Amino acid sequence: MKYTFIYKGETDSTNLEAGRLADEVSHGTVIVAERQTAGRGRRGRSWLSESGENLYFSLLLKPDFAPEQASMLTLVMAQAVAEGIDSMCGCKCQIKWPNDIVLHGKKVCGILTEMQLEAGRIKHVIVGVGINVNQMEFAAEGLAYAGSLRRELGVEVDKQKILVEILERFKGLYQAFCQEGSLKSIQKAYEDKLANYGKEVKVLDPKGTYQGVALGINDKGELLVRRADGTVEEVYAGEVSVRGLWGYV
Ligand code: BTN
Repeated sequence: MKYTFIYKGETDSTNLEAGRLADEVSHGTVIVAERQTAGRGRRGRSWLSESGENLYFSLLLKPDFAPEQASMLTLVMAQAVAEGIDSMCGCKCQIKWPNDIVLHGKKVCGILTEMQLEAGRIKHVIVGVGINVNQMEFAAEGLAYAGSLRRELGVEVDKQKILVEILERFKGLYQAFCQEGSLKSIQKAYEDKLANYGKEVKVLDPKGTYQGVALGINDKGELLVRRADGTVEEVYAGEVSVRGLWGYV
């Protein structure tokens, strides 16, 4: 994959911008913005993006695979982000399934994957990544679970270098993912980073909340959760949230 970069000082949302440009630009286009006025998070939430200190980017892909596989790209990107941050910052961040990157128990990155279909096939997929890089001030209500690389590590971090590092890693992981059509090749590495691994979790399923132990992921990226009666659930990320018993992770 060859990356092409489009830089914006300000935009509403790099995901929206990527969607607007999708027909004119090629597979591998990366839209990067200093600030977003309407940054979007998962489940219709917003993603505060006023500060020029953070990294906001969206990668536009035009893959050949089936629509069912697109959601797995979120985990591929989560792995690339986690590895990229570790190698740049010399730290050891974790992934809260499916796609939050956590450092010292604080969320430092979120990923929003959106797909456009045409006649039942993927027209494009947009993988949007927001990383709190150098932001020091957080609203009081966010402080309990949100953080930034600088806040956690005590040093300023180069946004541009992190972006390059992440995209370099994504390229390799994406190639393996496309060859296999599953997460088989990253499953182990992902589980090594999984903050929930072997822990008691609460699964907030719209059909009913339950508790269990997170055993890892399968090659589709579903979280395997063993319930008290021994049955193992394969939890699909779509509508479901997972929490630690005592807090966010
Ligand atoms: C989450 O809710 O955790 C996902 C947040 C994703 C935010 C990023 S910032 C860049 C891209 N553009 C958006 O509007 N959202 C994503």
